[in-house]
Amino acid sequence: MNTEQNTAARVETLLQQMTLAEKIGQMNQYSDFWEVTGPNSQAGDAEMKLDHLVQGRVGSMLNVRGVEHIYKLQKLAVEESRLGIPLIFGFDVIHGHKTLGPIPLAEAASWDLVAIEQAARVAATEAAAVGLNWTFAPMVDISRDARWGRVMEGAGEDPYLGAQVGVARVKGFQGEDLAANNTIAACAKHFAAYGFPEAGREYNTVDIGTSTLYNVVFPPFRAVVDAGVRTVMNAFNILNGVPATANSQLQRDLLKGAWGFDGFIVSDWRSVVEIVTHGFAADLQEAAIIAANAGSDMDMESYAYIHHLEAAVVSGAVPIAVVDDAVRRIVRLKFELGLFDDPYRYCDVERERTMIYHPDHLAAALDMARKSIVLLKNQDNLLPLSRKQEKIAVIGALAVDKTSPLGSWRIGSDDESAVSVLEGLLAYSQNIRYAQGGDVFVGTTDFREEITVNETDRSGFAEAIKLAQESAVVVMVLGEHGFQSGEARSRTQLDLPGLQQELLEAVYAVNPNIVLVLMNGRPLAIPWADEHLPAILETWQLGTQSGHAIAEVLFGDYNPSGKLPMTFPRNVGQVPIYYNHFRTGRPAVAEDVFWSHYIDEANTPLYPFGYGLSYTTFAYANLSVEGIAGRSIKVSIEVANQGNRSGEEVVQLYICDQVATVARPVKELKGFEKVELAPGEMKVVVFILTEKELGFFNNEGMFVVEPGAFTIMVGTNSRDVLSADYRLA
Ligand code: BGC
Repeated sequence: MNTEQNTAARVETLLQQMTLAEKIGQMNQYSDFWEVTGPNSQAGDAEMKLDHLVQGRVGSMLNVRGVEHIYKLQKLAVEESRLGIPLIFGFDVIHGHKTLGPIPLAEAASWDLVAIEQAARVAATEAAAVGLNWTFAPMVDISRDARWGRVMEGAGEDPYLGAQVGVARVKGFQGEDLAANNTIAACAKHFAAYGFPEAGREYNTVDIGTSTLYNVVFPPFRAVVDAGVRTVMNAFNILNGVPATANSQLQRDLLKGAWGFDGFIVSDWRSVVEIVTHGFAADLQEAAIIAANAGSDMDMESYAYIHHLEAAVVSGAVPIAVVDDAVRRIVRLKFELGLFDDPYRYCDVERERTMIYHPDHLAAALDMARKSIVLLKNQDNLLPLSRKQEKIAVIGALAVDKTSPLGSWRIGSDDESAVSVLEGLLAYSQNIRYAQGGDVFVGTTDFREEITVNETDRSGFAEAIKLAQESAVVVMVLGEHGFQSGEARSRTQLDLPGLQQELLEAVYAVNPNIVLVLMNGRPLAIPWADEHLPAILETWQLGTQSGHAIAEVLFGDYNPSGKLPMTFPRNVGQVPIYYNHFRTGRPAVAEDVFWSHYIDEANTPLYPFGYGLSYTTFAYANLSVEGIAGRSIKVSIEVANQGNRSGEEVVQLYICDQVATVARPVKELKGFEKVELAPGEMKVVVFILTEKELGFFNNEGMFVVEPGAFTIMVGTNSRDVLSADYRLA
């Protein structure tokens, strides 16, 4: 408690007073077991957890909700246990706590790092106000597989964009001062390669090569570690036959060793138990030994450390230095959070009451939501709609849904708290009529259960078709339920679930003047819609302010500026499909069939990475590339707004290292800038490429910058670029 000492000294003073059992207690994390009135008999093991809490044998709790609840548990730890070490309270605050912003994949589509940082700060402010001080975010797993439901939780397929977004989110959550009342500790997850499950099936085997690991999977983790992220979560998957939680190379050699990470590593939910399930340890005792030695500092709900680590230290299977190192890392964060100075600093009922759904938070969520929308198609400028537009039909069950737009991973939020699309549109125009067109989802939408899709009941079609016939323009809101993506929500199809495609085609048959508003948590394959419909707007799941943001874009009060952070395939069979692929030995040849292709589908995506339209048009000209001091390259490009409406454009820079000792991808994003241009305005956008952008990791994990030919490309998306050659000395 001596505040004269610096944090490191306070940590040592504390460590010296701890028994082995108390040290191991700090490495133990339990999920909630407590009603405000006492142990929760439903939660299982509640009595045991309670005993451990008052004995100082719990370091952290997760999933505890509300100040009153958190206060009581903190009081037990602080006032009943021998040393009174405060708990840290963790929670999955993924895209907001009560006020929800867009799902992280959507947010990444804004390419707006300032707004993304602000969104994380809003989430931290509400979380800290309800007693929490640690979020299990950001997920910085890169993924190329839209079948994998957790793509909604990350920043998409690209390591460069993923790193920038990850850093912005960490800064937003953590701020400059972890003890402030609007910041919390962040957690980068899932280390490592969790985003590459085979066939996109959740929790499946991961088996990827060294080059992808170093150049695609690691960079966002490295970036957030360099930005000071305080914790990292390991992963459920195996990598080269070793479970991530048991992986010493990943956790000790790389993360804590080469990268100098000084925070702590928390296991994923019961992932120490899963070391046994994977066939890597005979029993939980062995799993505990392996996990601790491999550098997993805190055990989330496996009961492995609490039951087995003491004996392992006594027998010498786990050196005491391993335990001391873990405890130092954990208690250091508690000091940084200010918990030793005031363990109840996050427990202010008044703040809880006033900060939840604060107007500033709603405004920030709206800002983030509008910036996340991507315009995919807009033939003959059907959009934006005029406020005077007569006879607008709105069709689709998702148009009135106030829960689904909240997306997945929203465990602190309230059902029915989103502004629906219909509500948003009605604020703009009264010339609107609505027909549901039938249920999309039937039965329960509980997040622990599978969503059931309506595959048979077409009884709502007739009303929707009649309305479309009587209308001038039809806004169809179709897509996925909020709980059809997220953890454990892998799909084998990327189409519109249920009867939605059939409804879309039936409406189209009577009125083709359709604006398709997509709501989904992953890239979808929508070739029919792209071929037939005049306008398509990708709105993902935009959170609390969803309907307002969508209406602003549909009526032109906001000019869409989002760009896809993940490739949209034509067909699920193309997955994994991503822009930064390698060349093959058999690129396209005209003469015969013996080249890398499909006999029934093109190789190209429907919409490439980085793609997104605006209500205005941008022209790119005069790409110039010149060498400057220190092996750096100065790239400049003129970007002009050729339309009569101002707009924002994300100018994207890609490189290709033509010949290297490890073959490099056809394109790699190495810079971007979001610029705002008034009608007729032209700006020169300048990028500086340094060795950091020009190099890569070889198969020994060494970063190398190799001389030779590069292609430098700049454009509006990863497909449509201007390019120039450059020779690096
Ligand atoms: C997820 C983690 C999450 C944890 C705690 C796990 O199932 O994989 O991302 O933070 O649960 O809720």
